[in-house]
Amino acid sequence: MDFKTFLNKKKEKINTALEKYLPERSPYPEDINKAMRYSLFAGGKRIRPILCLEVCSVVGGDEEEALLCACALEMIHTYSLIHDDLPCMDDDDLRRGKPTCHKVFGEAIALLAGDALLTHAFHLITKTDSSETLRIVNEISDLVGAGGLIGGQVADMVGSSSLNDKSLLQYIHLNKTAKLIIASVRSGAIIGGASRTDILNLTVFAENLGIAFQISDDILDVTGCKEDLGKSPGKDEKEGKITYPSVYGLERSKELLNQKVKTASDILTSYGRRAAFLYALTKYIGKRKS
Ligand code: IPE
Ligand code: IPE
Ligand code: MG
Ligand code: MG
Ligand code: MG
Repeated sequence: MDFKTFLNKKKEKINTALEKYLPERSPYPEDINKAMRYSLFAGGKRIRPILCLEVCSVVGGDEEEALLCACALEMIHTYSLIHDDLPCMDDDDLRRGKPTCHKVFGEAIALLAGDALLTHAFHLITKTDSSETLRIVNEISDLVGAGGLIGGQVADMVGSSSLNDKSLLQYIHLNKTAKLIIASVRSGAIIGGASRTDILNLTVFAENLGIAFQISDDILDVTGCKEDLGKSPGKDEKEGKITYPSVYGLERSKELLNQKVKTASDILTSYGRRAAFLYALTKYIGKRKS
């Protein structure tokens, strides 16, 4: 099976599971359920849950056991996008090719839909049938909290009076984006019964892949188009954001992206054929157009 077909199959698997874990319901109050589903099913590449499943199977686990956690990670990601788009943050009108949540449901419901997706994610993870469930909740909540994803979002908004531009950029990318990717990889590895050494190696893989993911997001904001991205390009410069292109220039950013992707890929070589899809996924993330 070629890479794209395999990727689409994985995506379908995630979408079917998300339908199961966030079903259409119309209890009062209806709007919150509609808004949660609107953003969750607006599209999206499903990279984080696919990473979680794939890492689980690379370390010898059964990916079915990671499915609940994978869906929870996509809900956490979607919550972060809804809040990221709010007028008080990046103020974006387009996400996943559709009007942003607050444009359709209003700011208050969008804010609460984000909160509800985050809350529901942890509700789901606790249903994972694994002796490691408590550890997973502990790790994910730390990685997406004020010392992780949220800290990165704060730094992205307010900058820093003590860090220079390069250190600040490193902090932002590691926290706002790589930490959730690290959470996806580590939880997949833990559910799959990985050894301590494998968990450590895969964490380094995820950190490099996560930073690469945000470098490519920054590059695409300069070079991409609305149709491919499903969001409005050119926003970073307009908002005066600190990004790889703004600090290093476009060409150097591309080189740094390739370096991170190579470091991540090299770690996978020790897993041989078992990691063939993960290897191809890493390459794809480095070259993605959307
Ligand atoms: C966008 O993430 C936000 C970043 C952290 C760069 P994705 O590019 O994975 O967005 P979707 O899920 O495919 O919409
Ligand atoms: C988003 O970074 C990071 C999170 C949502 C945590 P960006 O603000 O660059 O993401 P896009 O470009 O809006 O998707
Ligand atoms: Mg942002
Ligand atoms: Mg944004
Ligand atoms: Mg961006």
